[in-house]
Amino acid sequence: MKDDIERVLFDEPAIRTGLRKLAAELIRIYRGRELTVVPILNGSCVFASDLIRLLPIPLTLEFLACESYGDGTVSSGEVKLKFFPEPVTLEGRNILLVDDILDTGRTLKTVSGIIREAGAADVRTCVFLDKVERRAVDLEADFRCFEVEDVFVVGYGLDYAGRYRNLPYIGSLRSEVYSDAHDHAGTDGDPERS
Ligand code: IMP
Ligand code: MG
Repeated sequence: MKDDIERVLFDEPAIRTGLRKLAAELIRIYRGRELTVVPILNGSCVFASDLIRLLPIPLTLEFLACESYGDGTVSSGEVKLKFFPEPVTLEGRNILLVDDILDTGRTLKTVSGIIREAGAADVRTCVFLDKVERRAVDLEADFRCFEVEDVFVVGYGLDYAGRYRNLPYIGSLRSEVYSDAHDHAGTDGDPERS
């Protein structure tokens, strides 16, 4: 797995430092307010589980899952919900939507709209990585750990064809890895996006 990585962009110490900074910001904003953290699966599982353990404030956790990439190598541009919390767990709540990476912005834009419609009192977004150059819709994250250049990255929850999520750092993939692959079905993200 390591051999497929071209360059490490954020190693484990850098991630720890970034998380502590982000957690301090969240604690400042949410102190004294009840919070519901909603990680978007699968990509945000590692980030969200590290982050909540740095937040010594009362919170509840609800998961949702969606996919923005269909079969094949190019984003469908359409965000499909795979499962969603019971609306009663969102109504009147301060929601912090957590995702692994903000890319075009379609996922967070769609999902935050749906959560507002479900009756949440307040909806904010928190991402581990922000690929600013790739934005296609009008959405900025309220909180982010790191800005990242426009390269396809894996690790710390992020996948290519479902793999590499368990790498403890963020790295870019060697181009041979994805130029050799012809069937990318099942991936959440893909390096050959339009
Ligand atoms: P958006 O809807 O375009 O903002 O896409 C967000 C989703 O695309 C993320 O949750 C990831 O699953 C996927 N994605 C975007 N860029 C990357 C990347 O560089 N590596 C892995 N997945 C990515
Ligand atoms: Mg994802």
